[in-house]
Amino acid sequence: PDDPQYDLHLYRGLWLLSGSVKMMPKVAKMRARPDDIVVASFPKSGTTWMQAIVQLIMYRTLGTITRVGLSENDWCFLDLAHNADPMPIDLLDEQMSPRLIKTHLPWDLLPKSIVEKKCKMIYVYRNPKDVMVSLYHFCKNVPEVIHSCPHETFEEFVQAFLKDRVIYAPYFENIASFWQHRGDANVLFVAYEDMSSKPQETISRVANFLGEPLDKETLDMIVRKTSFGEMKKSENVKRIIRRSSIAQSLAPRKPDGTNFHFLRCGKTEEWRKEFSPELAATADKWVTENLAAAQLAGFSF
Ligand code: PPS
Repeated sequence: PDDPQYDLHLYRGLWLLSGSVKMMPKVAKMRARPDDIVVASFPKSGTTWMQAIVQLIMYRTLGTITRVGLSENDWCFLDLAHNADPMPIDLLDEQMSPRLIKTHLPWDLLPKSIVEKKCKMIYVYRNPKDVMVSLYHFCKNVPEVIHSCPHETFEEFVQAFLKDRVIYAPYFENIASFWQHRGDANVLFVAYEDMSSKPQETISRVANFLGEPLDKETLDMIVRKTSFGEMKKSENVKRIIRRSSIAQSLAPRKPDGTNFHFLRCGKTEEWRKEFSPELAATADKWVTENLAAAQLAGFSF
C-alpha cells in the first residue's frame, strides 16, 4: 500500500523513503554494545542539537554539519535513506566505544539488541507545529526528501502531515512508542523547548544521565558551542553560484539543497509566522485528539 505519487512506503505501519526501507533488514541485525548511546526522535525535533550536546559531553569535539545533520563519520544514522558507500551502519562493528547512534525509528522498529543491551537512549521531542514548519522547509529544499510529500504550499504540507503522510509518520506513534518506556532507567525524555529556554539545566540533565557530570567550565563551554549561532558556524553550506544572464535567473530553479540551511531558524513558537489562524486551529484539534490516546497519558508539550 505505497503512496503512488510520492517516494513513501508503508513499512510495518511507518511511512519511509524507499532508501530507509532497504536498510531495515540491516538495522534489525545491528549488534549493539551496552555503552552505545542512542539519540532518537521524530525528524526536526532537535535531533542534531541533542547529538551535538551528547558528542561534546562524551568526546568534547564536534564535526561539520551537512544539510542532513552532523557528520556521518562521528554518528551512525541507522535508517539513513540516501546512498552512501559504505553506509554508516556497515562501519559500526569497527567503531570505538562509546558509539553514537541516531535514529528516527519508533521503539518497536529499533534493533532488538539496542533494547536487550539497555543502551542509553535520549528521546527528543518538539512542539508539533514547529516540527511541521521545520520539516516543510526541509522537504521543500533538500533533494534527498523532496519526493516524499506535497509541499507546493505550506497548507498542503500540513494537511499531508495531519494525515500521517510524511516521512516517519505517524508522528504521535513515534512519541508514544518511547513514552511507554519513560520510566526505564536507560531512557531520557528531553523537550526542544527546554534545550532552548534552560540550556544549562538541560545539558546537565543529559550529562548526569550519561554518567558524565560536568564541571562548570565544561558546562559553559558546551552551552556556548551548542548555541544556534556557534553551531551554524560549523555548517557546511554550498554557496549558490551567481547567475549571469537574466534568462537563467528567471528560469525556474529546481531545489538542489544549495540554498538550504540545516540550521534554518532554531526558534520556538516560529509556527506563528507560518500558520493561518484556521490552519493552526485544525492542527491544534488534531494534537488534542491524539494526546487523548491511552499510550500518551501524562504526556504534554
Ligand atoms: S533531522 O534532520 O531530523 O535530524 O533534524 P533535527 O536536527 O531534528 O531538527 C532540525 C531543527 O533543529 C534546529 N536546530 C537548532 N535549534 C536551536 N539551536 C541549535 N543549536 C540547533 N541545532 C539545530 C534546526 O535549526 C531545525 O529547526 P528549524 O526550526 O528548521 O530551524
